[in-house]
Amino acid sequence: MRVAKKKILFVASEAAPFIATGGLAEVVGSLSKALVKTKRYDVRVILPLYQDIKQVYRDKMEYMGNFSVSFSWRKQYCGIFRYVLEGVTYYFVDNEYYFKRHGLYGYYDDGERFAFFGKAALDTMGFVNFYPDVMHCHDWQAALALLYLKTEYCHYVNYQDIKALFTIHNIEYQGKYDLGLLESLFGISRNYSNYVEYQGALNLMKGAIELCDYFSTVSPSYAQEIKYDYYSHGLDLIVRRNEHKLCGILNGIDTDYYDPATDSALFANYSAEDLTNKAVCKAGLQKMLNLPVNSKTPIVAMISRLAQHKGFDLVKTVIEEALQQDMQFVLLGTGEWEYEQYFSELAKRYPDKVASAITFNSDLSRKIYSGADMFLMPSKSEPCGLSQMIASRYATVAIVRETGGLKDSIKAYGAEGNGFTFANYNAHDMLYVLNQALNLYRNEKEWSALALKAATTDFSWNKSAQQYEELYRRIYDNH
Ligand code: GLC
Repeated sequence: MRVAKKKILFVASEAAPFIATGGLAEVVGSLSKALVKTKRYDVRVILPLYQDIKQVYRDKMEYMGNFSVSFSWRKQYCGIFRYVLEGVTYYFVDNEYYFKRHGLYGYYDDGERFAFFGKAALDTMGFVNFYPDVMHCHDWQAALALLYLKTEYCHYVNYQDIKALFTIHNIEYQGKYDLGLLESLFGISRNYSNYVEYQGALNLMKGAIELCDYFSTVSPSYAQEIKYDYYSHGLDLIVRRNEHKLCGILNGIDTDYYDPATDSALFANYSAEDLTNKAVCKAGLQKMLNLPVNSKTPIVAMISRLAQHKGFDLVKTVIEEALQQDMQFVLLGTGEWEYEQYFSELAKRYPDKVASAITFNSDLSRKIYSGADMFLMPSKSEPCGLSQMIASRYATVAIVRETGGLKDSIKAYGAEGNGFTFANYNAHDMLYVLNQALNLYRNEKEWSALALKAATTDFSWNKSAQQYEELYRRIYDNH
């Protein structure tokens, strides 16, 4: 007997390959694909039709029609376009007033834009006649869809059985607004204000945690961490109060998309079976970045948003000490001005040892993942982190602080180890393990074994998608 597929709707503000500013997009794009592959799920994703979505995708979208979306006193046009990618159906919500702008976030009316989007997500279910078993909302931008479901739509026949899962990719961004906007902007009755009110403000993430059936984070360690003030950005009380609904599932990466055997950005391809061409990638990278081409000098790389919580203050404290040894340091990323300045200057002062590319460029990132020997990620907090997994897949040994997903994906050098780790957020603890790694690098045999261990660690979605399946089951079977 054929069992009907379960229906999942992802509500998110970005998804690769259509539109991406960070890890969230990769997870939405690759988890949906992994679930469809099991053949047990009909997974659909709803996204805003941003101006920055490339024409090649727009050309292949099918226009399905339009309707109007109401929230508070507003009534807005909503067009729906459809695109099927590798078995996943994407719906794009078209409204030029809200989304025909450059970039994704950071507008004064983001609250209104994502209120429209959240309402549109629920109305689209009716429009396309797809009422999911689980509506899976990602981050605060999708929290409003969940709030509308739980405060209003759950009273309608077609919506009453829909369960809601809320996934926190980063608890730092909560969607905070003036409490006075609850009715006047968002159109949510004041009767619900105790759910969404927090510390005198309207807090959308808090509301989603309170009203969801389940919530999750992108690694088991982060699920524990956000119960504490150090990591919670003020929400630990709310997390603890709802912890019976909380679970943590480690993200995977798309191992087809990140595959050194087929990646066309690489100077040469290689795989875990035969890593010899990694040396070609290294030489190519050194040459391209105007660093001395020397196979014996280890390259330590960082690819990251230049933000404080990524651990750059630790790097600043000890990098010059580290550079006294035979090593090269390569950095790729943009972000806070102070760090952009610092690393540009550092490269000028150490032209033979440091290369800083203050930009973001996917082609260069892949050349670095493949050409480097070590990948440094000393984050203060890291909900999951994908770069340490990508680097490992390219046989580049990760050096990480034991936090969130870094702790769950990278194990310290030793019997089961696939990288290097340090526990305390302390510059000299970091330097200590970096030195350990640089020492081990001189032992070619040991180093190759470790690089191979990194390259063969399973970072695919297989295991994690299974855990999401279990979670969905728990949610719709209600146990
Ligand atoms: C956010 C987190 C990052 C995580 C990503 C995908 O960007 O900061 O740690 O890997 O979401 O879940």
